[in-house]
Amino acid sequence: MQHLKQRPRRNRKSQSIRNLVQENWLSVHDLIFPLFLIEGKKKRSEVHSMPGIYRYSADLLLKEIETCLKLGISTFDLFPSLNDSLKDKKATESLNEKGLYLSTLRLIKKELPEAIIMTDVAMDPYSSDGHDGYVKNGQIVNDETLEILAKMAVAQARAGADIIGPSDMMDGRVGYIREALDKNGFTDVSIMSYTAKYASAFYGPFRDALDSAPKFGDKKTYQMNPANSREALLEAELDTREGADFLMVKPALSYMDVIRLLKDHCTLPIAAYNVSGEYAMVKAAAAKGWIDGDRIRDEILLSLKRAGASVILTYFAKEFAQAHKEHLHIL
Ligand code: PBG
Repeated sequence: MQHLKQRPRRNRKSQSIRNLVQENWLSVHDLIFPLFLIEGKKKRSEVHSMPGIYRYSADLLLKEIETCLKLGISTFDLFPSLNDSLKDKKATESLNEKGLYLSTLRLIKKELPEAIIMTDVAMDPYSSDGHDGYVKNGQIVNDETLEILAKMAVAQARAGADIIGPSDMMDGRVGYIREALDKNGFTDVSIMSYTAKYASAFYGPFRDALDSAPKFGDKKTYQMNPANSREALLEAELDTREGADFLMVKPALSYMDVIRLLKDHCTLPIAAYNVSGEYAMVKAAAAKGWIDGDRIRDEILLSLKRAGASVILTYFAKEFAQAHKEHLHIL
């Protein structure tokens, strides 16, 4: 018999021992559930490329949030789908107190004050150009966009937002938004910055869901080049200095090295956005019977924790919570 002093398998010999040595755990408390909001009453429509994910009118959205709260999900990220007739160059509808987004936000915070709501700050859902920034002579202009984003953020804070999520990738927007929030008395409203948001094909199903694809060109002059990781450190440094509370990496799966890089170099908590295309791939392969979708879901989410994310935004949040109702952690 071989004399081996070290036998790593000893620490894998039973579930109890495996639990003792498990380095990372996944809990429903780690998750944020993105939700899609549409106009109307009693409306619910499934996103065709995201089976199990629906767009809800405000009344049904409230019910959905209530169900999720009971499952232990505490935080929701809200995205609106607007009729084209409401879109314009300057995203003015984003400031309409009576409009879909702000009125629903108020309703949620009134009816379910315990729900933590993260809002999206970017122009694309309201922009006739479909870009995250203001378009002038065919260019996405940075500094004029900041003004619009800051007003949007303050309006959302006034309507009750707990966390502001700038997803636009304009330079300097975290500092600009932080200052505007503070000046208006919202020093307690947090900012989860989309710090390293890449120009990615993984956002396809999301743009279907909201009909928010750019009307011309692409987002490469503001979203990051998938080839780069050092640039993510620069973005993280700037966001930290400008007053962010969380640094997000997006997408998640193809960017786990970036999650780890930020985790190792930054002191702020790291969030990962497990995006629409990542969800769609799992659902499509599972529907064909090619993979075990439930196990792959748990493995993906747990591996994002291992990579260094302490918060995960994921369309799997509700089904994860349902699947693990009995335990707060997966085993
Ligand atoms: C836009 C925004 C996008 C997502 C979140 N906010 C798409 C984009 O940048 O085109 C993508 C989310 C997903 O794919 O799940 N501001």
